[in-house]
Amino acid sequence: MVKTKTTTLGEFIIENQAAFKYSSGELSKLFNAIRLAAKVVNHEVNKAGLVDILGNAGETNIQGENQQKLDILANNIFIQTLRNREIVCGIASEEEDDFIPINSNNGENQNKYIVLIDPLDGSSNIDVNVSVGTIFSIYRRVTPVGKPVTLDDFLQAGREQVAAGYIVYGTSTMLVYTTGQGVNGFTLNPALGVFYLSHPNMEFPEDGKIYSVNEGNYAHFSYGIKEYIKYCQKEEGNRPYTSRYIGSLVSDFHRNMIKGGIYLYPKSSIASNGKLRLLYECNPMAFIAEQANGKASNGHRRILDIKPTELHERVPFICGSIKMVEKAEEFIHNS
Ligand code: AHG
Ligand code: MN
Ligand code: MN
Repeated sequence: MVKTKTTTLGEFIIENQAAFKYSSGELSKLFNAIRLAAKVVNHEVNKAGLVDILGNAGETNIQGENQQKLDILANNIFIQTLRNREIVCGIASEEEDDFIPINSNNGENQNKYIVLIDPLDGSSNIDVNVSVGTIFSIYRRVTPVGKPVTLDDFLQAGREQVAAGYIVYGTSTMLVYTTGQGVNGFTLNPALGVFYLSHPNMEFPEDGKIYSVNEGNYAHFSYGIKEYIKYCQKEEGNRPYTSRYIGSLVSDFHRNMIKGGIYLYPKSSIASNGKLRLLYECNPMAFIAEQANGKASNGHRRILDIKPTELHERVPFICGSIKMVEKAEEFIHNS
């Protein structure tokens, strides 16, 4: 067997720094902080099964440590890691009502990037040993460097993203990200604490056979979505499709990108904009999807073209293999 060169995430970040058009090393430092926080969160997620021994959230564990819910813990780990290293000027998170301006210890913060995160996605899966994830999205600030960040810095359309990625804490832990030059996936070797490039140039197959939607909400879906689901189930051509729904966007997306599939969280009569958050769930996943030859839509328009108006706004989300997303849109338009 020919031995191929192994590349670590650290090496990959350095090697690709020069190819990045605004390269100043600042983004590389930011990725290194995310890489570090991901390893710490991975460690915590892996320990989650010991919760009965070590104590539940809100209790004091056997070592006298105060237990936190894992999504709060993951939130604190990411925020502290980014804050301590003074590499961003602001952070917004699913777990924080407002964005957090980051001030420098020695005067004005000269950093130009802001980060938005969903620190733990699919957190209801933790108790039952099912995969969860972290999602991140990075923008250049629009207000002047050196001044405190404002809401305008966070309410940018998704197409302005500089980078986006996710970590999936699954049977193995992977970090997948894009800086607008394709999508690459890195797998953590837990013994060494090193991420290795395992999935270079990831791409959605153009078409697929998997549909992922919470069908428990079927009765509340619009006519177009109901008809599309019936189409997925119909025996014809390469159908019926296979239904797979983990209930963790990161994990469902990751599987669909590798195997070919579509993820839907549409609007319904009980949730007029669906459930997923535009800024730290849909936009980063949409950027990755497009960079991987996939598509992301709210049923009518490109997710990345939506101008956000609120930090925590929700949006219907349809994302995956291009032909499948186009077919779902067709059903919505014709209904
Ligand atoms: P979070 O754990 O960050 O709140 O996100 C959960 C999201 C998403 O990951 C998942 O796809 C979706 O909620 C599942 O929602 P339903 O349980 O309504 O299907
Ligand atoms: Mn989430
Ligand atoms: Mn979350």
